[in-house]
Amino acid sequence: MKALDGIKILDFTHVQSGPTCTQLLGWFGADVIKVERPGVGDATRKQLVDKPGSDSLYFTMLNHNKRSLTLNTKTEEGKEVLERLIKECDVMVENFAPGALDRMGFTWERIQELNPRMIMASVKGFGPGPYEDCKVYENVAQCAGGAASTTGFRDGPPLVTGAQIGDSGTGLHLCLGIMTALFQRERSGRGQKVLAPMQDSVLNLCRVKLRDQQRLDAGPLKEYSQFGEGIEFGAATPRAGNDSGGGQPGRILKCKGWETDPDAYTYFITQAAVWKNICDVIDKPEWKEDEDYATPNARLTRLNEIFDTIEAWTMTKDKFEVMDICNPLNIPVGPILSMKELAEEPALRDTGTIVEVDHPERGKYLTVGCPVKLSDSEVDVTRSPLLGEHSAEILAMLGYGESDIQSMREAGAI
Ligand code: COA
Repeated sequence: MKALDGIKILDFTHVQSGPTCTQLLGWFGADVIKVERPGVGDATRKQLVDKPGSDSLYFTMLNHNKRSLTLNTKTEEGKEVLERLIKECDVMVENFAPGALDRMGFTWERIQELNPRMIMASVKGFGPGPYEDCKVYENVAQCAGGAASTTGFRDGPPLVTGAQIGDSGTGLHLCLGIMTALFQRERSGRGQKVLAPMQDSVLNLCRVKLRDQQRLDAGPLKEYSQFGEGIEFGAATPRAGNDSGGGQPGRILKCKGWETDPDAYTYFITQAAVWKNICDVIDKPEWKEDEDYATPNARLTRLNEIFDTIEAWTMTKDKFEVMDICNPLNIPVGPILSMKELAEEPALRDTGTIVEVDHPERGKYLTVGCPVKLSDSEVDVTRSPLLGEHSAEILAMLGYGESDIQSMREAGAI
C-alpha cells in the first residue's frame, strides 16, 4: 500500500514547478493523469534535447510515475472529457499563466459546481497584487523573491543559484498545501483552492535574509565578512558571498588540487563548541587561550585571517581527507561535490535518491528519485509517459467506448 493510494490527480501542469509537485504525489502513490495538448505536449518534452527524436531529460526527469492523456481542452469534446475528469479526480494541479483556466471556461466556481470536493492547486508567479497577471520563470522568481539580491559577492552583481528554488521549491510548497487540504477535506468534506506563488515560496526560503534586514536596525551584521573588513553596511541585507547564514562563521576553502579541479573545495564551519579542536587541527594551539581568538566575539573581526590560516591547512589535503580528519573531531565540514560525483555516489543509489530508469526512446538515464522517505510507503520510480500513451485507458476509465474515442481522435480532441 502507498500513502496516497486511491487519490486521483488531474495534472494540468507543465514545465518545472507544477510537474515537480505532481511527481511527488505520484511517488507517494497517487494516480497522476497528466493532460497535454495533442501533438504538442508539455513544452519541455522537446526542450534541451540531447537525443533527437526522444523526450528530453528535462521532461523525463520531472514526470515519472504519471499517465499521459492528450486532450485539446479548447474543443467541445475536450471540455466534456475535462468535466468528467474533474468529477472523477480529487485534486487538480495547474501552473498555467494567470487566467488561462478561466479562458478555457473552467473558473473555480465552475469546478466547484462539478465537484465540491475538488482541491484546486495552482502555482502562479505572484500572488494577488500589482504583478498577479505576469508570467514567471525560475530566475524571475529568484530575483523577485529576494534570493538574487542576497546571493553572490558584495562587489559583484546579484546572482541566481543553481538550486531551482523558484520552480522546484514552489512545487514542494504546493505539494504541502495539497496534502494539508486533503487532510482538511477528510473532516470538512469540502475542497478548496491552494495557491503557491513563486515569489512567496522563494521569500520563504530566504527567511534568514529578511531576519538580517531587520537586524540591521540594531547595527552591523557582525557575522558577515564585511564587518571584519570594516566595510559599512547599506540599507538592505547585502550579498554575503560564502559566509554562513547562521551564527557559526563558515567559508568555502580551497583544497589540494584546486588549481585544476574546479570543485576541489570544502565548506568549513568554525563552530564555537569545537574551536579548540580546530586550533589543534590547523596547528594553532596558542589560539585556544589567546583572548584575540578564544571567543566567538573576538574572532568576528579576524575572520579573514582565521579562514586564511585554516585554508593554508585545507590546501594540503583533498576535500575528502578534510572530512575524514574533521568529522571525528565534530568539526562541521562538507566537500563541494560535483554533479559527476553525486551521480556516482553509491550511498545515494542505495537509498533511491539517485535512480537509473529505462526509457523506450532514450534507454537508461539517471534521475533524482524521491528525496523524502516514508517507512510505510515505498517509492518505485517508473519512467515518464510518452505523449498520449495512456489516452485510451484513461478515457475508458471515464466511461468512453471505442467509437467515442475514435471520433474524438478524428476531431483532433485527443
Ligand atoms: N488544450 C488546449 N489548450 C491548452 C492546453 C490543452 N491541453 N494546455 C494548455 N493550453 C493553452 C492554455 O489554455 C493557454 O491558452 P490561452 O493563452 O489562449 O489562454 C496556452 O495553452 C498557453 O498556456 P500558458 O500557461 O500561457 O503557457 P506559456 O508557455 O505561454 O507560459 C509560463 C509558460 C510558465 C510562463 C506560464 O504558464 C506561467 O507563468 N505559469 C505560472 C508560473 C509558473 O508556473 N512558472 C514556472 C514554470 S516552470
